[in-house]
Amino acid sequence: MKIIVTGAAGFIATNLLPRLLTEGHEVVGVDNFFLGRREYVDRFLPHQKFQFHEFDLLDRERVISLFEAVRPDCVWHIAANSDISFGTTYTDFDLKGGTHVTYNVLEAMRLSGTSQIIFSSSGAIYGEPRVLPTPEDYGPLFPISLYAASKIACEGLITAFAHNYDIRAWIFRFGNIVGPFPTHGVIYDFIQKLRRDPTRLQILGDGTQAKPYVHVEDCLDGMMFGYRSARERINCYNLAVGDQTSVNEIARWIIEAMGLDASGVRIDRGNEPRGWRGDVAQVRLDTRRMEALGWKAKMSSGEAVKRAIRETVAQLA
Ligand SMILES: NC(=O)c1ccc[n+]([C@@H]2O[C@H](COP(=O)([O-])OP(=O)(O)OC[C@H]3O[C@@H](n4cnc5c(N)ncnc54)[C@H](O)[C@@H]3O)[C@@H](O)[C@H]2O)c1
Repeated sequence: MKIIVTGAAGFIATNLLPRLLTEGHEVVGVDNFFLGRREYVDRFLPHQKFQFHEFDLLDRERVISLFEAVRPDCVWHIAANSDISFGTTYTDFDLKGGTHVTYNVLEAMRLSGTSQIIFSSSGAIYGEPRVLPTPEDYGPLFPISLYAASKIACEGLITAFAHNYDIRAWIFRFGNIVGPFPTHGVIYDFIQKLRRDPTRLQILGDGTQAKPYVHVEDCLDGMMFGYRSARERINCYNLAVGDQTSVNEIARWIIEAMGLDASGVRIDRGNEPRGWRGDVAQVRLDTRRMEALGWKAKMSSGEAVKRAIRETVAQLA
């Protein structure tokens, strides 16, 4: 297949690319290095079946030209602003980087006859739901961040384009994804902070925030399984694990993994039960729909976090 991957220099995509290339697909990556890393893409440049284009997906003409030139069978639309807190400071950030970018991708799909989209959505769309674990058909949706509002808008655009223009869509609402080649996130932040100052760790919020963490290898297994097995026009799945890990546990495990003496690290916590405005403090996603399809993550949340800590400590050493 010919596949376009948006956000190709980011954390999840850089773990996806070797899988697609090993399967023999022709892969065209796009990224503007807003959060992604040049060195993550450089690893694949020598591969015969890989091409990379550096540009901003907000540039609709360029997106359309690329899709018309490549005429892909499928797009893995992974690009977005992945940092929820940005949207609080710059209120049009997710509107542009999430919603407008997704519109551009869909319009380019329509014009080039691309018929399949795999989209990375988020469990953040449920806001602070009354039902935990939250199933895919929970509603009405009242998001609490502009990031989540944008993800809902993207899902709406995808389903409307799918209905009108013969497009099939796979929407995955992720828990927190962790693993090697990170660009951001709590594990990466804590390790970086402790490398700069091993005597002090600042935690945003009181550390009781707890979420389901999914290792990126499980996440990609799940996406590929879902893509191959779910054959509706719109296929929408939570991609998560059943248990949760708290930020306080993550801090403790990182201090241990870095070989620091816990009594020598002063932990400064906030007073709020959430890390920042828009942060959903307690997340639990219902995974039964994926399980009914025949897929379950191999690693629990705790196992995924511990493995990602080892991988990130080793990579940043
Ligand atoms: N990592 C998680 O825990 C998580 C959870 C839920 C959803 N998601 C979603 O999964 C996707 C990937 O997340 P990630 O963790 O790999 O994030 P990431 O920031 O590492 O990757 C996103 C990539 O998209 C690129 N990008 C962003 N805007 C762009 C633009 N306008 N033009 C070109 N490139 C652009 C960035 O430079 C980056 O390389 C995102 O859509 C994110 O919202 C991630």
